[in-house]
Amino acid sequence: MTATSRNNLNLRGLKSPRLRVAPSVLAADFGRLEEEIRRVEEGGADLLHLDIMDGHFVPNISFGVPVIEKLRPISKLFFDTHLMIAEPARYAEAFVQAGADLITFHIEVRDDPRRVIDAIRRTGAGVGVSLKPGTPADAVFDILPLVDLVLVMTVEPGFGGQSYMPEMETKIDALRPRLRPDQRLEVDGGIDATTAPRTVRVGADTLVAGSSIFGQPDSVAAMNAIRSAAERVLRP
Ligand code: DX5
Ligand code: ZN
Repeated sequence: MTATSRNNLNLRGLKSPRLRVAPSVLAADFGRLEEEIRRVEEGGADLLHLDIMDGHFVPNISFGVPVIEKLRPISKLFFDTHLMIAEPARYAEAFVQAGADLITFHIEVRDDPRRVIDAIRRTGAGVGVSLKPGTPADAVFDILPLVDLVLVMTVEPGFGGQSYMPEMETKIDALRPRLRPDQRLEVDGGIDATTAPRTVRVGADTLVAGSSIFGQPDSVAAMNAIRSAAERVLRP
């Protein structure tokens, strides 16, 4: 399957009107990555969240293009790629060629956001924009019509396993009414079966979770617990 046809299929999945759970591989055992991914894929994960860190935009380094390239043939999951890098426009195409289905960049980078969006769009992948905790919702208001997804960071980006910041709920709440039904509102950082429902209550529909899924003895049971807790908010 070509990158474009896979993207078209997958973007339809992204737009399905329900909650999505996106396990973040940052918390997986990298020595057994294939097995870890296969397990959550068979267990019903909706997306796979891939955290790319360059040691500049955030004070940590994770993995890059060659890892995504190796993961692509082993998984049919939507690759939700979160670029915590200083120059997203420069690297977007390489990540898409490696297999990313959607590229999320940070609004705080120096690149002009419209130029980054164009660079990602040209590849045929979906476009997401992310806000660090200190960035107000209105920083993205003017570009909202141009993206497929908005990612509200509920911790400072850079590391897994941090505590959820409840004060981000005001930001989620401010963004939700400005989004079309086909646009996703994703949360990332400290999401578990207790915090996920709080974010869904104010409008989140896509839940990234690392340590509360891969860090658990049974990743599928942990993922299902997050999903059921979040769904209870929608169907009380
Ligand atoms: C943090 C990353 C997250 C991270 C979340 O900068 O963007 O995706 O994996 O980890 P948890 O779920 O452990 O907070
Ligand atoms: Zn992330």
